[in-house]
Amino acid sequence: MGRSAIDEDSRVYRVLILHSSIDGHTETICSRLQAMLSARGCETRLVALADCDTALLDRAELVVIGASIRYGRHRPAVEAFLQAQRSRFRHLPCALFSVNLVARKPGKDTAGGNPYLRRLLARLGWQPAVATAFAGRLDYPRCRPLDRLAIRLIMWLTHGPTDPRGIFEFTDWHAVERFGETCVARLQALRPPPARAPTHAL
Ligand SMILES: Cc1cc2nc3c(=O)[nH]c(=O)nc-3n(C[C@H](O)[C@H](O)[C@H](O)COP(=O)(O)O)c2cc1C
Repeated sequence: MGRSAIDEDSRVYRVLILHSSIDGHTETICSRLQAMLSARGCETRLVALADCDTALLDRAELVVIGASIRYGRHRPAVEAFLQAQRSRFRHLPCALFSVNLVARKPGKDTAGGNPYLRRLLARLGWQPAVATAFAGRLDYPRCRPLDRLAIRLIMWLTHGPTDPRGIFEFTDWHAVERFGETCVARLQALRPPPARAPTHAL
């Protein structure tokens, strides 16, 4: 979000989107959100959480964070970042989503129902403005042999796909769109868009 004439346009909502993605699917979800928010008139910037600096946060009116799960945990940098920015997030709204395979199950795709997200928020003692979980992508051929074995076992136990040649995308893209809409509504509630000039019928 470099400063430019458009940055100073008070009609534009400035949204910073941060991703913590290992195999790229969370980044893809973030890109989808970026396209949607941009189409809704937001000025967006998408960067890796690891590359986020104070200047980017200072410019944002909403921070969207997407983070994926590996063996029951988000990357340690995610929790460290949220902990470090706690006081900032008291006045800067944050929309957080977790990406994992458990979220493919009914009821496990909410902040309260997804065990990873629920535990993260409990550890932090914090509630973001918006929080949810999206089901991720399972790419068996791309997994390392031991990971493939472990995930196939978990999938077998939880009645998921076990074909080691398969690539399975569980993400509900409509839910991603709804999350984006919730973000826009949140921004509009905080700073209502300027009223349109009345159009007079001739
Ligand atoms: C090695 C490995 C471990 C994983 N561990 C879990 C897990 O413990 N729970 C879960 O629900 N999903 C787990 N997943 C699924 C990922 O969270 C899912 O594939 C997600 O889409 C990855 O997002 P990313 O590409 O942005 O990293 C795991 C995936 C891999 C490859």
